Amino acid sequence: MTPKPQESSSETQRPVSLRVCQAADEMIVTAAELVVSAFQAKAGRFRLVLAGGNTPRGLYQLLASEPFACQIDWSSVDFFWGDERTVPPDHVDSNYLMAKQSLLDPLQIDQQQIHRIVAENPDLAATAADYQQQIAKVLDTPVDGSPPSFDLILLGMGGDGHTASLFPHTAALSEESRWVVGNHVPQLSTDRVTMTVPLINQARQVLFLVAGDDKSDRLAEVLEGPYQPERLPSQMIRPQRGSVTWLVDSAAASKLQS
Ligand code: 6PG
Repeated sequence: MTPKPQESSSETQRPVSLRVCQAADEMIVTAAELVVSAFQAKAGRFRLVLAGGNTPRGLYQLLASEPFACQIDWSSVDFFWGDERTVPPDHVDSNYLMAKQSLLDPLQIDQQQIHRIVAENPDLAATAADYQQQIAKVLDTPVDGSPPSFDLILLGMGGDGHTASLFPHTAALSEESRWVVGNHVPQLSTDRVTMTVPLINQARQVLFLVAGDDKSDRLAEVLEGPYQPERLPSQMIRPQRGSVTWLVDSAAASKLQS
């Protein structure tokens, strides 16, 4: 089933903010500033969803170092992941391991604040359901209710237009109620666990980080081309009440018209 096209009327779509930084390292500094701003704008617990892949590593390292580390009260942050590969937590491909090494260990984050996806469990449906339970518990909302709102969700975009593990033409794109699902990704001959569009689109803030010339064609299609969610899943990320900011470097932005 093809995902329902997003209504084009303006009242259902918040503006998309695009910020182009000259180089990737400048983009990472700007991203760290945006994370600090988002944290400082929220009273109480700050529920943060981390992105996987390679791009965010530099951001995590920067947040774990001065002058950024001291600007956030890390004891009030709950850490989640937008997706995870089906590998153990000590595997080189693990999104959890990348964040553990670049952010969580350097900041000596308490285990109680870390909510990783147990994606090494072969029963992905159970893993996804367990993660939904954990989200509901930490965000204090009914597990069978509407998706809750994370304060900030960090996302990347793959060269094929995927985000999290919402890959083109995969079943997860059509999920309309569950917050987390297992997703078979034939193009990678693998399975993933991923947050779904209904959950991501409840976020107060979404921040995409996209760098590199290899993303330029797809970024132009996602931001300026026709709405084709099956082929370009990143287009589905349009928070209903929250904001979405695309933070990109000039290489990734090189094909944009606007
Ligand atoms: C993953 C990520 C994925 C990533 C993009 C971009 O598990 O790989 O969730 O969505 O953000 O593939 O990855 P890079 O930052 O490595 O280009």
